[in-house]
Amino acid sequence: MSKLFEPVSLWAPQGPGLHLRNRTVLAPMCQYSVNAKDGVPHAWHLAHLGARAGGGFGLVFTEATAVSPEGRISDQDTGIWNDAQAGAWVGIVDFLHSQGAAAGIQLAHAGGKASTYAWLPEQASSGHRGSITAEHGGWETLGPSETTIFGLDTPRAMSVGEIHASVRDWVDAAKRAEAAGFDIIQIHAAHGYLIHQFLSPLTNKRDDAYGGSYENRTRYAREVVAAVREAWPAHKPLGIRFSGDDWVDGGWRIEDTVRFATEIRDLGVSAFDLSSAGIGAYHGPSGPGFQVPLATAVRTALEGTGSFVTAVGAITEPAQAEQILVTHQADGVSIGRAELIQPNWPVVAAAALGVHRDELPRAAQYWRAAW
Ligand SMILES: Cc1cc2nc3c(=O)[nH]c(=O)nc-3n(C[C@H](O)[C@H](O)[C@H](O)COP(=O)(O)O)c2cc1C
Repeated sequence: MSKLFEPVSLWAPQGPGLHLRNRTVLAPMCQYSVNAKDGVPHAWHLAHLGARAGGGFGLVFTEATAVSPEGRISDQDTGIWNDAQAGAWVGIVDFLHSQGAAAGIQLAHAGGKASTYAWLPEQASSGHRGSITAEHGGWETLGPSETTIFGLDTPRAMSVGEIHASVRDWVDAAKRAEAAGFDIIQIHAAHGYLIHQFLSPLTNKRDDAYGGSYENRTRYAREVVAAVREAWPAHKPLGIRFSGDDWVDGGWRIEDTVRFATEIRDLGVSAFDLSSAGIGAYHGPSGPGFQVPLATAVRTALEGTGSFVTAVGAITEPAQAEQILVTHQADGVSIGRAELIQPNWPVVAAAALGVHRDELPRAAQYWRAAW
């Protein structure tokens, strides 16, 4: 019996929690495909996410989906700050469910890394990289401080009133995610985006209640988590994605992540995905499973709390994923680029790990592929 294909239930404050048919998770992957620039998902998102649900993933996450217009990474990101967007997600969520996958939404605010050109070949080849210019519709970005990341336009430091309004945006987005039928929210606290900008001393230079000490730098994240948890139904699990480490002295380190993960476990967060970095040049390790130790550190600290901790990053091989689980380094794996190559990565992995052909998590329409 493969551990990777063993079902699991994700803890929620009430009820049985969220049943997953296996422990493969589709990592959130920006598609930069909202050509209308209105944040509304459409046929591409259905085809992309639907293929991966049909391809066997236990849990399918949307791309980073903005809680407010200024929180988009690019103007072609999906959003969930209005009812038209929420309504457009309904059919996609229903299709994911019809394929046996749970539907997750990654809620995001890009902060000082917002208003950038879509990361697509056309933009890249025409020299459109980095911050969108005003003539191309760029917008003012917001962050904890006026700290430039990767040479992008400097964000404006948020007032305390704007911080409070931003927390309300997360809450409204969570309510719309519920209306759209999603099973789980993943709060994007990674990759140098707004929440991570507040957490990290590299980008948070505030001297008020939202900056300085660990307690103050984690305040915005804690307020977002607590408010979303309250707005999100108690029978549904809440998750978070961290950059577990900035890989820089004086930055946000794994010890901070472990401490904060433990604190927000008490606030009702039960799913943790461990990525890293996103602020400045990359100084971390690379190679297969390079971020797995971050997941293991959090998993060890949360042992016995019923949490579901997933590892991500250069996990490409079925045996590699299986080994991460059987050696208790993580409870599940998030798969990114490997699924861009192979949408049915879980089906292929299950076959490789000896799952009987009648039990492969494949769409019924593809049954005869096993003949
Ligand atoms: C095209 C692309 C889009 C991505 N979009 C997101 C995103 O929307 N949210 C996020 O948290 N990470 C995003 N990531 C990071 C992935 O989720 C994942 O963490 C990363 O690719 C490492 O995993 P992998 O080695 O399996 O690809 C993106 C990565 C790529 C390559």
